[in-house]
Amino acid sequence: MIIRSPKGTDVIGPPRSARWREVLTLWENLSGSYGYELVITPVFEFTELFERGVGETNEMVTKQMYTFADRRGRSLSLRPEGTAGVMRAYLAQGGTGRWKVAYSGPMFRYEQPQGGRRRQFWQIGVECVGSASAAADVEVIALAEEFLSAVGVENELLINSLGDGECRAAHLEDLRAAMVRSMADLCSSHRDLVELNPLRILDCKLCRPDPEALPDIADYWCGSCRDHFAEVRQGLDDLGIAYRRSSRLVRGLDYYSRTTFEYVATTLETSQSTVLGGGRYDGLAETLGGRPVPGVGFAGGIDRMLLAAPGEDAGLDVFLVGEGGVAALDLMEWAAPLRRAGLRVGFELDARSVKAQFRAATRSRARYVGVVSGERLEMREGRDRETLGPEDLEKWGMKAFDPETRA
Ligand code: HAM
Repeated sequence: MIIRSPKGTDVIGPPRSARWREVLTLWENLSGSYGYELVITPVFEFTELFERGVGETNEMVTKQMYTFADRRGRSLSLRPEGTAGVMRAYLAQGGTGRWKVAYSGPMFRYEQPQGGRRRQFWQIGVECVGSASAAADVEVIALAEEFLSAVGVENELLINSLGDGECRAAHLEDLRAAMVRSMADLCSSHRDLVELNPLRILDCKLCRPDPEALPDIADYWCGSCRDHFAEVRQGLDDLGIAYRRSSRLVRGLDYYSRTTFEYVATTLETSQSTVLGGGRYDGLAETLGGRPVPGVGFAGGIDRMLLAAPGEDAGLDVFLVGEGGVAALDLMEWAAPLRRAGLRVGFELDARSVKAQFRAATRSRARYVGVVSGERLEMREGRDRETLGPEDLEKWGMKAFDPETRA
């Protein structure tokens, strides 16, 4: 019997993986073009990192982490998110200066699996550490916006500001009092959180406190938080990025201060419609034992994005068929210049009849079939081997082919 994979995990294989590869390549190029350098952090960390970084009372930490003891009894957890690990890495390498880093990889949360809510899922994200400027917030949002539009996700951008430690404290006090008055409208698992972490309740889909009865953080912003948020909005306006302010947008992790934002896919069901979220976390470095360092970033869920924008599963560009004794190794030579020109090229590796090779070409979903016989490659118009190159691709109507967009 074949061993099943654990619930909530997926295999991303062909043909679906072609689209994944396309989107991950797009991410690599786009984040690089914004000046974000690659960072690769451990997939498991000491549990304490997430307890301190994400929040000891946060449900992601108390209920959703894959936590285990290693052989020497130390408590480790599979990372449920990437920001705490990036900040730890920044502090470990000195904790000074600007770090603009991009990541991509699997995260792990013990959730009730459904479409778009997985136990192992793939995030792409950036962290801009070391700048408190509103321009940094605007830049990360601009990158998110450009990425989602290139992937083809129809979306709405929601933004908010949670204020800083001071304005938030006054808001939390009044929020707590309002939640106590609305206790009957809270879900059973959140009634205990009123004292500990009332912000989390705003995030809950089951709690239904009367929105009119809840204090809006906007009424508590201090002057500098108000100015910072105004600058962020001005920057988005200048770039022509549309958004809506949502007073309930508090996000699911405890490290946020000031700007928070989420992109919601308008074509997905509400419980899994947030395809990307982020914000500022100016207090995180200190909770991890470092000096105060501001930061802002986001992470997006590829699984969800591709539910919202499945795209076409791009096959090969060219499938070569060998006629009249042209064998696989000859086809490999013919494939070389096409591959160098950035095309995805395949052919049958086992010796097969021409008819069988054409069947394989159809199965491969290749855009073009190139028939090689003797010294000629026939693709609509036959070309000589020596003159194969990008200019020939133009003759085959492939000029518009862009390896990035596959368009
Ligand atoms: P998050 O909102 O917890 O933020 O996750 C970001 C995105 O990951 C979500 O919007 C969603 O698309 C995806 N995601 C989360 N959980 C799942 C799941 N179980 N299955 C599939 N997709 C999921 C963070 O993780 C923060 N670290 C973002 C950040 C970076 N903030 C500042 N910098």
